[in-house]
Amino acid sequence: MNNYIQENKDRFIDELLQLLRIPSVSADPKFKGDVRQAAEFIAEKLREAGADNVKLCETAGNPIVYGEKIIDPALPTVLAYGHYDVQPADPYELWHSPPFEPVIKDEKIYARGACDDKGQVYMHIKAFEMMMRQNELTCNVKFMIEGEEEIGSNNLGIFVNQNKEKLQADVIVISDTGIIANDIPSITTGLRGMSYVEVEVTGPSRDLHSGLYGGAVANPINILCQMIASLHDENNHITIPGFYDNVEELSSDERAEMAKAPFSLEEYKKALDLGDVHGETGYTTNERNSIRPTLDVNGIWGGYTGEGAKTVIASKAFAKISMRLVPNQTSEEITEKFTRHFESIAPPSVKVVVRPHHGGEPVVTPTNSVAYQAASRAFEQTFGKKPIPVRSGGSIPIVAMFKAELGIDSVLMGFGLDSDAIHSPNEHYGIFNFLKGIETIPYFFKYLAEMSK
Ligand code: BES
Ligand code: MN
Ligand code: MN
Repeated sequence: MNNYIQENKDRFIDELLQLLRIPSVSADPKFKGDVRQAAEFIAEKLREAGADNVKLCETAGNPIVYGEKIIDPALPTVLAYGHYDVQPADPYELWHSPPFEPVIKDEKIYARGACDDKGQVYMHIKAFEMMMRQNELTCNVKFMIEGEEEIGSNNLGIFVNQNKEKLQADVIVISDTGIIANDIPSITTGLRGMSYVEVEVTGPSRDLHSGLYGGAVANPINILCQMIASLHDENNHITIPGFYDNVEELSSDERAEMAKAPFSLEEYKKALDLGDVHGETGYTTNERNSIRPTLDVNGIWGGYTGEGAKTVIASKAFAKISMRLVPNQTSEEITEKFTRHFESIAPPSVKVVVRPHHGGEPVVTPTNSVAYQAASRAFEQTFGKKPIPVRSGGSIPIVAMFKAELGIDSVLMGFGLDSDAIHSPNEHYGIFNFLKGIETIPYFFKYLAEMSK
């Protein structure tokens, strides 16, 4: 770790804790004011670090924070993207300390957003501050930090489409993913897409006494469960007709390459307290969670769930279902195939409505680009080991849009760990990872400038 980080790290952490105290939950309108406050905080810190033209760009939803430092048009330009919005913190009672009152325990910062993505966004701001203060900024830089990633980035999509000139860059760098382990650096080279729907199954026109009517009318909860269960077969393949039509199959060489990444099934099971893993026949755990598409129920409700027992046949049952997509599938295609199939398997005793939510397209990023090579060298410099390219199972919808709208590839330089519990209670981010990110990012700028000459 260099002197600047050594001397300033307590302040860096302290500032991040201030940001983490702002509950910028994008999914829930009651946090609207906090979301804006987080945007203003980011803007202020960018200004303090030395960025020019810092402003909040208004959208139909939450503002996008923009700032830049253009030092020489002849130098490469890096567009750093991240998000200041966070997932809802529910269920609050499972947190060991309140989600928006950050605490440091065992060298980790515990708070909603600590890793996803405030902690990682803040690494970029502090790395920029350090490069500015030490006169070591080697590239032009543009910052674009949004407030709607966790709800699908729709307004950012519009903003990008309307500001193609302003956002021109040689590479987009994003720290919103992870590494395999603190001693096994990796760079994410792919993200899955997403198709998200909500389904509503209606049986009788009102809730019924389950003794008077039970057995004689369709129970929408029973039917919904049957319908959902039928979406996978005995090999855990998805049964929606045409679902796999466009799925990119990896060659055996590519799969063999993937299998080289260090992984222990025993440790994986132990970390999650699993008796066994589960998934599509014919694929390994790491393949199942990255290069294969999935279908998962994220929530299911209906009927009586309060204290005690109530004998009732509910009128309605609901579920939220997400499908993770891999290259060559599109969210539009899959949402349509799902809808058609789900409607077709509904028995005449119920009515079914499928409502699409957000979508996002899958993406694979190149490893032979100058930007990837610069990132790889930066990791090698600070971790002492060459990072392994890894395709991730998560989604960042804007990455495919950046490629489609701006023609720019992203480098996914994330520093989180799968065990950081993002989206879960007790989310945390290692101080090691936070400082390592601040240390690594300037090397990325340095090598990018050198290798672009
Ligand atoms: N940062 C995550 C995505 C991620 C995490 C990718 C770890 C790879 C490794 C991002 O904030 C996220 O949660 N995305 C959502 C998608 C969105 C449309 C709600 C996701 O993947 O569920
Ligand atoms: Mn994120
Ligand atoms: Mn997230």
